[in-house]
Amino acid sequence: MINATNQFLLITDLDNTLVGDDLATKKLNQYLCTHRQNHILVYATGRSYASAQQLRQERQLLDPDYWVTGVGTEIYIQETLDLNWANKIDTGWQREAIAALVKKHFPELKPQIAAEQNRWKLSFHLNETNSSISKLQIDKLTNSLQQMKLNAQVVFSSNVDVDILPMNANKGNAIKYVQTELGIANHKTLVCGDSGNDISMFQQQTFGVIVNNAQSELIEWYKVNADERHYFANSSYANGILEALQEFDFLLQ
Ligand code: GLC
Ligand code: MG
Repeated sequence: MINATNQFLLITDLDNTLVGDDLATKKLNQYLCTHRQNHILVYATGRSYASAQQLRQERQLLDPDYWVTGVGTEIYIQETLDLNWANKIDTGWQREAIAALVKKHFPELKPQIAAEQNRWKLSFHLNETNSSISKLQIDKLTNSLQQMKLNAQVVFSSNVDVDILPMNANKGNAIKYVQTELGIANHKTLVCGDSGNDISMFQQQTFGVIVNNAQSELIEWYKVNADERHYFANSSYANGILEALQEFDFLLQ
């Protein structure tokens, strides 16, 4: 059991946030290593657990305390899946019915590789270059799921990735669960991200940094919804995280 007293919670997305500029990742890692006792580190990624582990090895990432993988559908602590979380999100989840609906009515959605699918996550690619058309298609999918009373949400990222998840499962809900487990308050938590699947994290009541290289859907969200807890970094990738740690200087004293 992690002792979270007086610790800060740093939650970061991997691709194009913590990872993307190797020098910046290294710099941040060094900074975090010197303050290792002061924080709890969580990686929140769209990738599967296996693929995230592979990335950790390739890019020499620090070992986090928690892994939130598959866009918040899975939470791992010390290599063990949190079954309590799994039970929570499983309620009312109808994976087969959703798969059948997409197959029949949404031929434009091409399934991602099997390794990126899981029991609570159906993932597709939508290769539509016109972003207005892709938005309409996503809305149509969301509406169909609602009409069929299939209790699910659609997450659209990087203008190409479409994830269908249980209503309670996304990165934001998963990190809230981790926060509650640890008993760490919102004002002691910083979330970091770059794309659509990070929006649910920024919708929590924590501090948040949007790295400068963010995708258009997150920039749009920021323009409409941001408040004083949200910081749009001047620097990209892990340098944006470092910048935010300094901006919110109470985080890693
Ligand atoms: C990662 C996952 C993919 C998902 C995407 C957006 O790239 O591998 O399955 O669709 O994140 O959430
Ligand atoms: Mg990302």
